[in-house]
Amino acid sequence: MAELPSPRLAVAMAVALALLVLLAADAAVPVKNPLLNICMDAKHHKHKPGPEGKLHDQCSPWKDNACCTANTSSEAHKDQSNLYNFNWNHCGVMPPKCKRHFIQDTCLYECSPNLGPWIDQVDSSWRRERILHVPLCKEDCEEWWKDCKDALTCKENWHKGWNWATGTNRCPWGSMCRPFSEVFPRPKDLCEKIWSNSYKYSPEHRGSGRCIQMWFDPAQGNPNVAVARYYAWEKTCSPAQGEKAAPERDQAARALPWSALALLPLALVLLPEVAGGCGIPRMGVPVAAL
Ligand SMILES: *[C@@H]1O[C@H](CO)[C@@H](O)[C@H](O)[C@H]1NC(C)=O
Repeated sequence: MAELPSPRLAVAMAVALALLVLLAADAAVPVKNPLLNICMDAKHHKHKPGPEGKLHDQCSPWKDNACCTANTSSEAHKDQSNLYNFNWNHCGVMPPKCKRHFIQDTCLYECSPNLGPWIDQVDSSWRRERILHVPLCKEDCEEWWKDCKDALTCKENWHKGWNWATGTNRCPWGSMCRPFSEVFPRPKDLCEKIWSNSYKYSPEHRGSGRCIQMWFDPAQGNPNVAVARYYAWEKTCSPAQGEKAAPERDQAARALPWSALALLPLALVLLPEVAGGCGIPRMGVPVAAL
């Protein structure tokens, strides 16, 4: 005659069943990575991204989902905009072919909801967050440099060190206006140094899904959505997990005590975005652990 399970086993089975039910419910909810589809907490950004009926000229590619308002997008195209009172013409008039890259840079900064993986906290009087090391596509950086190489400037880092005495930025005493090609010898120097490492020069090409595009054709959708998703995944998962070679990882798994493995389902329930973002098979692992 078959015996009834012992009370301890019965409790264990009930707990296991409850966990399975919780996991099943959890798996039905789409995973949301907190680094995706967000606006930074800075001077002009909207609280949350959303559609804008119309965005001005070069900012219009972002109109379906933007962190900027129509007003900000218009201001981004002005020489002396009320956004930052920043003067592009501090060494004579900036040629239009060069200026359009600065306008595009402003549109990306103000409007993009895909910079989440590179948002960094700052202690500044005028913003709480900035972007750091956004991997700018090789071509975007090189074209920016090529179209600006003959324009003039007196500074390498445009974030700091200006003379603001008149309310707009002017060259500090003792600085000289020189061609961009002298101040920024390579495209990488321009893209990385001008905004104190907001950008990182990426060796990846436009369309690779591995670098952020300042310029894109909205007819094919916003290519930066997929780029943000890729890097958000990388950053959410522990670096050790992403970078370790497979044999090492297997060894680490074997070294895990079974008691820790038994807690895995609970961890998966409590940390859905981590588990989901890192591609752990949600139902497979817990079932094996039970
Ligand atoms: C944007 O809004 C500011 C403040 O309300 C206003 O002064 C400015 O003229 C507006 N700019 C545009 C282009 O509408």
